[in-house]
Amino acid sequence: MSCKEVFPALKNDRLLRAARGEEVDIVPVWAMRQAGRYLPEFREERSKCDFFTMCQTPRLSCKVTLQPLERFPLDAAIIFSDILVIPEALGMQVEMKPGEGPVFPSPLRGPEDISRLGSPDDVCTKLNYVFEALTLTRKELQGRAPLIGFSGAPWTIMAYMIEGKGSKTMSNAKGWLYRFPEASHQLLKIITDATVSYLVGQVKAGAQILQVFESHAEHLGPYLFREFALPYLKQICDDVKKSVAELGMEDIPMIVFPKGGHYALKDLAALNYEVIGIDWTVDPILAREIVGPNKTLQGNLDPCALYADKEFIDNAVKEMIEKFGRNRYIANLGHGMYPDMNPEHLAAFVDAVHKHSKKPDST
Ligand code: CP3
Repeated sequence: MSCKEVFPALKNDRLLRAARGEEVDIVPVWAMRQAGRYLPEFREERSKCDFFTMCQTPRLSCKVTLQPLERFPLDAAIIFSDILVIPEALGMQVEMKPGEGPVFPSPLRGPEDISRLGSPDDVCTKLNYVFEALTLTRKELQGRAPLIGFSGAPWTIMAYMIEGKGSKTMSNAKGWLYRFPEASHQLLKIITDATVSYLVGQVKAGAQILQVFESHAEHLGPYLFREFALPYLKQICDDVKKSVAELGMEDIPMIVFPKGGHYALKDLAALNYEVIGIDWTVDPILAREIVGPNKTLQGNLDPCALYADKEFIDNAVKEMIEKFGRNRYIANLGHGMYPDMNPEHLAAFVDAVHKHSKKPDST
């Protein structure tokens, strides 16, 4: 890994321009989980190897990251990995169970288990495979589109470490916030420190923009969010930008995606993230009113709209772009692709964004 690596020049910088609030010829578009099981070529690779082995093998991670770009004229690649590599690097075992998703066989049962975790200073050594995957992918992309690096946000990661798997209520993890506020802060701090070094490492390795997934924002509400999520999201953004500046590298645009966190938009707009992702439950006009004119918004078509026919998708995209406007906007779904979705319908989504966002005078 080296920040001196020379990468091919970027030929499509729409995503970076939109993130920084600059003018674009057409609205950039990508899709969360664009590299995934809805693609037969992904399933083919996945049938040969375990999920985390795929993440840990740079050649494979690179290959599946590029798969959606071979099919669709996407304006970004997102590195194939998972948010749960952080708890794994902190010493927790994690497995991907078919039909169930990620599972931790020994989740954190109480504050005393925090001592089981390794040091946040060591995560970058353990996650070198992600950095290698980023560097390889950035080269293989040949400047076709910017490469997105990512991490989970501390509360979302903490929730997985305590619940051990997905949960409808997150009552164990939320129980910690109410019963053990100090230990919760201690755990969130460890995850935050690890995440900052990890994201800086991703930038050094070739990531051109970063997204922080607060996928479990919906469980918090304004009070818990302000106490247990916001300060850590702030620290991640500020510390990553500071370290990148100290390395003498160009400022890195950052996206925060608070899934289910409509109540947190105003608080998030006060942080230094250039882009705020919104899910489909938030009206774009309301989101714009809340965050003001100086943030880029990302989103937010209901992913399930991709089950509709192509004509419906085309109309829904047209309406979405009318509401968001062409400036300070990155088109995306309001959450990730599902495995049973038709790739042709993602193609319809991408094409519709480009078609309906062309400037009247561009060809
Ligand atoms: O294309 C991309 O978006 C890049 C790759 C990516 C994956 N996970 C690959 C993946 C990204 C950005 C993630 C982030 C991630 N992982 C999040 C945040 C985004 C979100 O969905 O809110 C979360 C919560 C996780 C944890 C996780 N990983 C879950 C809950 C699951 C199971 C859900 C499912 O779809 O089965 C995963 C597995 C996972 N991560 C898959 C992929 C392609 C599918 C697993 C498989 O191939 O068996």
